[in-house]
Amino acid sequence: MTDNAREFDVLVWGASGFTGRLVAEYLLATYGADGPVRWALAGRSEPRLTAVRDALGPQAASLPIRVAAIDDPAGLAALVASTRVVCTTVGPYALYGSPLVAACVAEGTHCCDLTGEVHWMRRMIDQHHEAARASGARIVHTCGFDSIPSDIGTWHLQETLRARHGAPAPMVALRAREFRGGFSGGTIASMLNMLAEAEQNAAIMAVMSDPYGLNPDGSGRGLDGPEPALPWYDAAIGAWVTPFIMAAINTKVVRRTNALLGHPYGHDFRYQEGTVMPGGALGLPLAFASATASAAAMAAIGVPALRRFIGKRLPQPGEGPSQALRESGYYVLDLFGRYPAAPGQDLCLRIRGDRDPGYGSTAKMLAESAVCLAQDDLDSPGGVLTPAAAMGGALVRRLTERAGLTFEFQ
Ligand SMILES: NC(=O)c1ccc[n+]([C@@H]2O[C@H](COP(=O)([O-])OP(=O)(O)OC[C@H]3O[C@@H](n4cnc5c(N)ncnc54)[C@H](OP(=O)(O)O)[C@@H]3O)[C@@H](O)[C@H]2O)c1
Repeated sequence: MTDNAREFDVLVWGASGFTGRLVAEYLLATYGADGPVRWALAGRSEPRLTAVRDALGPQAASLPIRVAAIDDPAGLAALVASTRVVCTTVGPYALYGSPLVAACVAEGTHCCDLTGEVHWMRRMIDQHHEAARASGARIVHTCGFDSIPSDIGTWHLQETLRARHGAPAPMVALRAREFRGGFSGGTIASMLNMLAEAEQNAAIMAVMSDPYGLNPDGSGRGLDGPEPALPWYDAAIGAWVTPFIMAAINTKVVRRTNALLGHPYGHDFRYQEGTVMPGGALGLPLAFASATASAAAMAAIGVPALRRFIGKRLPQPGEGPSQALRESGYYVLDLFGRYPAAPGQDLCLRIRGDRDPGYGSTAKMLAESAVCLAQDDLDSPGGVLTPAAAMGGALVRRLTERAGLTFEFQ
């Protein structure tokens, strides 16, 4: 089957879940049901998908529904062969994502997802990267708040710096200035599952704590060490900084991009993420209070009995932040390109998102990634890729034209 013969551009797999519904809402509002993007709702339960379509309103009435079970290889193969791209929100991905990736690789179908499960990404790289190169399937993990702003932002910043100065910045630092949002049950289930798997398997913990844990085999290592656990003072911005909550994922994705693209940021490129504390006398105590609270939370969920107790009191699968919180949510991130030997060349790229990071903005980023993979003229090869390595400038354009992100040089 050639690509043009495929029935759909995009299948939203997991459209009955919390984030999948938001992706469907966005695609409907942006592209309509019978417009330039041929798309459909997909999942394992026809009644639940029909309920989602009904809730989307009359303009969704003509949207096709496709059903398959994750444990039915023939059904899954037929499903993925019917589309150019599967956009999947079925998680925890380490539990449910592997058969879908295998089917996409076999059928040469592109796939984008929202996983932040580093150990599972490593597994997909090891099992499928070469086969995906051969079939042309672009398997693109981390197409949400983790890790598109970090990864696409760094790519965009480095492209700009190379054009201005003839050389990329040897160091890029992300500083999260402001963000407002919440968590869904699916995200919490994914985090808890990742910890539970890591407890059973030391190799998983080793991948998660390795700064180059997602790099291609044989691509070498750079100068970065493990993620900092304590706050530090960033003299360049004159503020205390604590470890950013998503840093352990985002930093590995940015480093994988550099390696996949042949090290355009340099072999000794360094990348780091932190959250900026308020200035003045409050900065230091707040930084330590924040780092202590994070460490205490991690220690608590590291104890299986406590993890079960806490898990029952948090949002359950299918639940997530309210519409009001999603719409009032936002984020502001600064990416600093730094030249220690020539500080006059330093540049800041400010990224803003117009909804809560985890769901409102993430749903738009994932949907635009799917449409980008389906319709844009990309020159990336197949493989288990990152957002920047797969989509680069095409995704920057989509995010700024449609998905509510701004990229402004300061
Ligand atoms: N990286 C980011 O920025 C980011 C942001 C948001 C979410 N996420 C991730 O996205 C994932 C989804 O989160 P969510 O809150 O939307 O979760 P959710 O509401 O629990 O939805 C999960 C979806 O998976 C489907 N599903 C579960 N088991 C399945 C199976 N065996 N076969 C087929 N479908 C199955 C569910 O279908 P049914 O309705 O039929 O049960 C549902 O559609 C999580 O892994 C989360 O961590 C990441």
